[in-house]
Amino acid sequence: MPEEKATVDHEHLPTRLGTEFIVRFSRLLKATALYDRKNVIIDRLAQECLQLINSIVQSEGNLFIKIVRDNFFFNNVRIQVKTDKYAMFKAFWQEMRKRWIGDVEFSTEVQSEHLKDLVYLLSGLEENNESNYLYVKKQLEYRDIDSIQVGKLEFFKDEDIYIDSEDQKKYSKDVYFKSIGLVKEVVDSIHQQKALNIRKAKRLMQIAVNAIMQDDSTLLGLANIKNYDEYTFNHSVNVAIYAIALGQRIGIPKKHLSHLGMAGLFHDMGKTRIPKEILNKTGKLSPEEWSMMRSHPLVGTELIMRMKEWGELSTRMIEGAFEHHLRYDLTGYPKLTRKRRITLFGRIIAIADFYDALVRPRVYNRFPYVSEKILGIMIERSGKDFDPSIVKVFINMIGIFPLGTLVLLNTNEMGLVTQIQEDSELIDRPKVCLLYYGDGEYRKGKVVDLKEMDEATRDFKRTIVKTLDPNEYNINVAEFLI
Ligand SMILES: [Fe+2]
Ligand SMILES: [Fe+2]
Repeated sequence: MPEEKATVDHEHLPTRLGTEFIVRFSRLLKATALYDRKNVIIDRLAQECLQLINSIVQSEGNLFIKIVRDNFFFNNVRIQVKTDKYAMFKAFWQEMRKRWIGDVEFSTEVQSEHLKDLVYLLSGLEENNESNYLYVKKQLEYRDIDSIQVGKLEFFKDEDIYIDSEDQKKYSKDVYFKSIGLVKEVVDSIHQQKALNIRKAKRLMQIAVNAIMQDDSTLLGLANIKNYDEYTFNHSVNVAIYAIALGQRIGIPKKHLSHLGMAGLFHDMGKTRIPKEILNKTGKLSPEEWSMMRSHPLVGTELIMRMKEWGELSTRMIEGAFEHHLRYDLTGYPKLTRKRRITLFGRIIAIADFYDALVRPRVYNRFPYVSEKILGIMIERSGKDFDPSIVKVFINMIGIFPLGTLVLLNTNEMGLVTQIQEDSELIDRPKVCLLYYGDGEYRKGKVVDLKEMDEATRDFKRTIVKTLDPNEYNINVAEFLI
């Protein structure tokens, strides 16, 4: 079980690999201007670069770096550039742009001499020649090097990107609502004892994984929007989304992420056997009712075990259903007769479940906790209820002010959080879309970055003063965010 071994390193795997590659590759490229290819320094730098390339090719199948505007993509996932690497990335970006080279791919393991051929070819290119990539291609062909490909730098107009991201949003929205529909279907089929549509569920979770790997902001935003209707269905989908996004950041391989999504989607399946009156009861539960509520992990596990169609997936699904209320220190339920460690999937789903259950209003919880408070509780309970290292990653992912939070700024402006900063030091300085009031309703204004400084005062231009309840202002967050 490879995901058991996955270490929590607080970093997004594509970002770590992509950054490391660019560090080593640009060092080698720079050195070609100073030394000839027989020099020992070139030898050493090429060796360092080669080791990394070949180990990535072995584990990921290939290594593909692409520049899109001023972003770098590693195997189609955007690299989140760390502040301390920013200057280096910028310099490398300029070098590539000057030569009109937009991507480099290593499709199989490469030899040292071939890598040297590539970097000397690149560094010898003339500036501003659009067909440079063709020249490199020909040269590589001529030398029988088929493990390396290069491509032309594409230029994007602002409109292209706009359309792209709008499409991405529509796509994510579609995935979200289809998933809700699917959970409903599954619940119905359990009630009517019909067979489940497993293949459909698997496919949807694969689509969700792809959407989250491209850009997790829309799906996380959708999960964060409070919706009073259909809590149960929303909850299942949200837990799946939080779990996938969290798993991705922890470095769980892509093929296991959709299984994690499935386990998240069906973690509360046992609740389909609890009478609605108990599930939705607003008053205090009697001891019998409590014990019924607490039986849902076990009931869910039984339901999953009875379904032959899940195949090898059922072990994963059981981890979600059985372990999500167990707690990290095993003081939760169901009570175990033999102590054992909670699986990685169980630990992830427990965090996603806890956060989503508290952040959204339920019938008996009309005033949801604000997320700062929940994250506070999670930090406090970390090591007891939750795996402390996963909690850290989760808090970084959600931010103190999650996507869609309505905030008041010190400038007396109101805004909605639209983007969390990648740098965890700036977790309280997200990007915010300002709202202004006109013609009887709130309208979208410009997006401002709260990390922007005022040159004159040497202080931040805007700072969040407090969070506001969108219902009080009649603001439908979903309308602004999607
Ligand atoms: Fe539960
Ligand atoms: Fe739950």
